[in-house]
Amino acid sequence: MNTPKRYLITAALPYANGLKHIGHLAGAYLPADIYVRYLKAQQRDVVFVCGSDEHGTAIPIQATKEGTTAQAIIDKYHPIIEQNFKDLGIAFDIYHRTSDPLHHETASAFFKNLEAKGDLETKTSEQYFDEAANTFLADRYIKGTCPSCGHKEAYGDQCEKCGKTLSPEELINPVSTLSGQAPIKKETTHWYLPLNRHEDFLREWILKEHANDWRPAVVGQCKSWIDGGLQPRAVTRDLDWGIKVPVKGSEGKVLYVWFDAPIGYISATKQWALNNNKDWSPYWNDKDTKLVHFIGKDNIVFHCIIFPVMLKLNGHILPENVPANEFMNLEGDKMSTSRGWSIEMDDYINKWIKKENGGDGLADSLRFYLTSIAPESKDSEFTWKGFQESVNGELVSIFANFVNRTWVLMHKLCNGKVPPFHTELIAAEAVSDNATDSFKGMIDAVKESKERITHLLEQYKFREAQFELIDLARKGNQYMQKQEPWIVAKTLDQNPDAQKIIDNTMHCCLQLCANLAILAQPFIPFTAKKMCYMMKVVDKMLEWENAGKFDLLKVGYTLRAPELLFRKIENEEIEAELAQLQANVAAKKTTMENTTATTEPTKDNSLKPEIVFDDFGKIDLRVGTIIEAKKVEKADKLLELLVDLGFEQRTILSGIAMHFKPEEIVGKQVTIVANLAPRKMRGIESKGMILMAEDAAGKLYFVQPSEAIAAGSTIA
Ligand code: MF3
Ligand code: ZN
Repeated sequence: MNTPKRYLITAALPYANGLKHIGHLAGAYLPADIYVRYLKAQQRDVVFVCGSDEHGTAIPIQATKEGTTAQAIIDKYHPIIEQNFKDLGIAFDIYHRTSDPLHHETASAFFKNLEAKGDLETKTSEQYFDEAANTFLADRYIKGTCPSCGHKEAYGDQCEKCGKTLSPEELINPVSTLSGQAPIKKETTHWYLPLNRHEDFLREWILKEHANDWRPAVVGQCKSWIDGGLQPRAVTRDLDWGIKVPVKGSEGKVLYVWFDAPIGYISATKQWALNNNKDWSPYWNDKDTKLVHFIGKDNIVFHCIIFPVMLKLNGHILPENVPANEFMNLEGDKMSTSRGWSIEMDDYINKWIKKENGGDGLADSLRFYLTSIAPESKDSEFTWKGFQESVNGELVSIFANFVNRTWVLMHKLCNGKVPPFHTELIAAEAVSDNATDSFKGMIDAVKESKERITHLLEQYKFREAQFELIDLARKGNQYMQKQEPWIVAKTLDQNPDAQKIIDNTMHCCLQLCANLAILAQPFIPFTAKKMCYMMKVVDKMLEWENAGKFDLLKVGYTLRAPELLFRKIENEEIEAELAQLQANVAAKKTTMENTTATTEPTKDNSLKPEIVFDDFGKIDLRVGTIIEAKKVEKADKLLELLVDLGFEQRTILSGIAMHFKPEEIVGKQVTIVANLAPRKMRGIESKGMILMAEDAAGKLYFVQPSEAIAAGSTIA
C-alpha cells in the first residue's frame, strides 16, 4: 500500500442545537482523533476538520423550545461543543461553522455549478402549507396520529413512540405545530439530485471497488439502498433558516441541510488554509489525497451515496473509506439527550475533569473506556460499572502501575537517573521463549506491539489496537516482577554484579515507558504528555518512528518525580452517576410532555406491557401471497398491494415503498393481520396489515413461513 501524499480527515459536523453525548464522541470524534494523532505522529500531512452544523429544522425547533432565535441557539451551543471537544483532547485543526459566510459562499457556488451543468432537476409537487402561519411545513412541524401504532403525537418524519419512519402524508389528522391548524396542500417547486442517474457509478465504486476494504455494515447499508432503487432526492426546502437557494425566483427556499452540511467539510478546509497560509485545493481535488469520513451509522447514506455523487459531479475526490460506527447504548437502553438517558460530554467534563487537579487523567480514562468498547462492528454498551472496571483494572493496575513502579524504583535504586546498560551481562540472561524473561525479549515485544498497533490503526481497528497497548504494559509488569530488582537490591553487599543487574532491569523498564508513551499518545494523549514531562523529553520524542528504539532516554539523565497518571474510580462515584441518570430521565419526562418537538428519534428497547393469551388470541394472523404491487400516487412511502388469502383477495396499503420495488415483491409470501379494521388512506381502503421485521439499521424484512405454503394458512 502506497502512502498517500496527504490526508483530509473529517468527523461529522454536530448539530449546534444542544449538548452532545458520549455516544457521539465514541461514534465519530474519538476514533477520528486517534487516527489523526497516529498519522501526525507518523509525520504525515494531515488536516482534521470539523465544525457545527447550524442549519436544518433542528435549530429553529430548538429555538422555539428555548424561547429564543435560531441565531441565539447556534451562538450558544457552537462554543460549548467546541470547548467540550478540546477538553477531551479531540484535536481538530479547525472547528468551523456552517453559518460562516465562507461556507454560505462555498455551498452556493457548489449548488450553482451543479444547477448550471444540468445535474439537478426541478419538480413541482403538493406539500403541506400552514395558511395561518403563511408557510410551508417541514416534516418536523407536522404532527398527527401514527398510522402504525396510533400514537397521537407522531411527527411528519417519524413516530417517536414506535420508531417508524413516516412521511407527512401518512399521518392521520395532520396538524401544524405552528398554528395548531390543519394544513392545506399547496404546490411548490424544488430542486432534486437525481441519484438514479448515478446507479452504475455507485454500484461500481462501492459494491465492487470498496466491497472488501469498507466495513461490512457500511457496504451492506449502501447495497440495500442501491438495490431498493435510487430516487431523485430533494436538495431544497421551503424554510427561512439556511442558505438561500442561489437562483432567481426561489424566495423562501433554502438548501436542504444535508446538501449544505457536508460541503461544510470543504469550507472548513478553506478556512484552515486561510488561517495557515496554505492552499486548500489539493486536499479536495488531488487524487493523491486520502479522504476519510468518520461518522455514526445514521449518517451512512449521506456520506456514502449522496455526498459522493455531489463530490463527483463537482469534480472532487471521493472518500477512501467511511469507517462508520454502530451505536453505543447506555445501561441497557438507547442513548438519548431528549429523554435524559445520556451522559453529555459537558456534564462529564464538569463533574469529572474540571473538579480536580490532574483531572485530565479522567479525560483519558473516558477516552480509554470508550475505545475499549468502541461499537466498531456491533452496537455496544456503556455502563458505569464497566467504566470503573476498565479504569481500575487496566489503566490503574496495569498501565499506571507499571510506570509508577518504574519511577519509584528508579529513584530508590538508581538515584533518580537513567541507569547505564551493561551489555556484558546480557550473555548471562536466561534463554527463554518467554518475552518477559529477558531484556532482548522485551525489545522484541515492543517491536511486535508497534507493528500490530500500526497495522490495526491503519485498518481503523482502534479497539484492538488499544488492547495491544495494554498488553505491552502488562508485559512490562511481568518482566519487572520476574527480575525483582527490589530483591536483588538486598544482595548488594554480597553480589558485585547486583547493581549492574538492577541497572539493566531499570534501564529496560524506563525505555519501555518511553515506548509506551509513544504508542499510547493517540489513545490517551494527556497521559503521554505527562509522561514526557516526567521523562524530561520534548513532545518530539512521541514520533511514531521512535517506537521500538531502546535508547530514547539518555543514560545518566535525571528524571522528575512520578506524576499521578490515573486514579481509581470508587463505588460511590458510579452509584451517584446511576442515580443521576434516573433523576435526569424523570426531569426530562415532565418537560418532554410540554414540548412541540424533539430532535432525536428514539427506539424503545423495552417490551410493551404484558398481555394475556386471550389478548393475543384476538389477532387473526394469516399467510398471504402478494399478487400485485404498485406505487400509490403522491405518497412516497406507500405501496398498494393485492394480496391473495386463499378465500379472498384484498387490497392492503403498506408503507414500504422506500424499501422495496413493486416488481421485486410480487409473489412473496407475507404475514397478514387479517382482522384489522379497514382504513382509508389517500382514498384507498386498506384491509389488514403486513408484518415486517426491522433491523437496527432500519432495513425491513418480510415475516414469512420457512417454506411456501397455501395462502390463507393460519398462524398461531
Ligand atoms: N449534523 C449531522 C448529525 O448530527 C451530521 C452532519 S455531517 C455532515 O447527524 F457531513 F453533513 F456535515
Ligand atoms: Zn407509531
